[in-house]
Amino acid sequence: MMKNPIRRTLLAAALALPALCAPLNALAAPLVLGFSQVGAESEWRTANTASIKAAAKEAGITLKFADAQQKQENQVKAIRSYIAQKVDVIAFSPVVESGWDTVLKEAKAAGIPVILTDRAVKVSDPSLYASFIGSDFVEEGRKAGRWLLERAARTPAAALNIVELQGTVGSAPALDRKKGFEEVIKANPRLQIIRSQSGEFTRAKGKEVMEAFLKARDRKIDVLYAHNDDMAIGAIQAIEEAGLKPGVDIAIISIDGVRGAFEAMKAGKLNVTVECNPLLGPQLMQLARDVVAGKPVEKRITVNEGVYPAEVAAKELPNRKY
Ligand code: AHR
Repeated sequence: MMKNPIRRTLLAAALALPALCAPLNALAAPLVLGFSQVGAESEWRTANTASIKAAAKEAGITLKFADAQQKQENQVKAIRSYIAQKVDVIAFSPVVESGWDTVLKEAKAAGIPVILTDRAVKVSDPSLYASFIGSDFVEEGRKAGRWLLERAARTPAAALNIVELQGTVGSAPALDRKKGFEEVIKANPRLQIIRSQSGEFTRAKGKEVMEAFLKARDRKIDVLYAHNDDMAIGAIQAIEEAGLKPGVDIAIISIDGVRGAFEAMKAGKLNVTVECNPLLGPQLMQLARDVVAGKPVEKRITVNEGVYPAEVAAKELPNRKY
């Protein structure tokens, strides 16, 4: 029998120590987020990656980051490796929409929540991901279409022939931006897409495909609709090399709102850019914390975005954050 009350208190404290330390340790251990990025194909993507890295640092979250170089198989590998490493939460920006069921089921079976950023997936079971944060790409396509409708209303030409540079084949932004644009322009039968091909969201491919469009020209090209600014900037080079004036001989509409687009608009070579905000990092970190803490989160979180025609480019350029 222990009679000494001081010894008894000390012993009780010693026995309680591990139990007390466990939650403290859990609080101290930083949350680990495994992130699989699409690649580094565009100015937009570079800004998105920088936002995610800076926000993780700021939030004290340990970020495991992998660049998939625009390949789905690399993203699947990265997600599997995050599962094996038992990270707290996985986030990724899916390069294409389909083909994710199996790996997402593996994450679910391992009890690791998944957040989609930027791009959506098509899965049989929506519970395979906790939340999706990113732009409304269909609406971006509609905004591009509305700008063209207004311009067409002020143009007497009998027909306005459009060429389209699509994003990565099978990706949500390529599918949705096409859909939204077509939905709006069908209101004016003078607007016809005469050629449409993927420029893979890169400047180099945008230039190459525009060169091919210009070479194959059997009808006048009046308008270029590019699914991102980088492809538009590549196409601008091709148009200039063909001896034409981008923004004048061919009206150019693109999406993203990166600094390069504002510079091109200021120079009179691009007519309008529809904003797609890449600065998703801070919201993603908060979402990751909430999901891991088991708090209820919105299944779909969208971003507020504007439309910037060339007329406002010089004024807006100094305010651009990416
Ligand atoms: O998913 C967003 C798109 O991907 C951006 O519009 C494009 O620039 C990027 O590469």
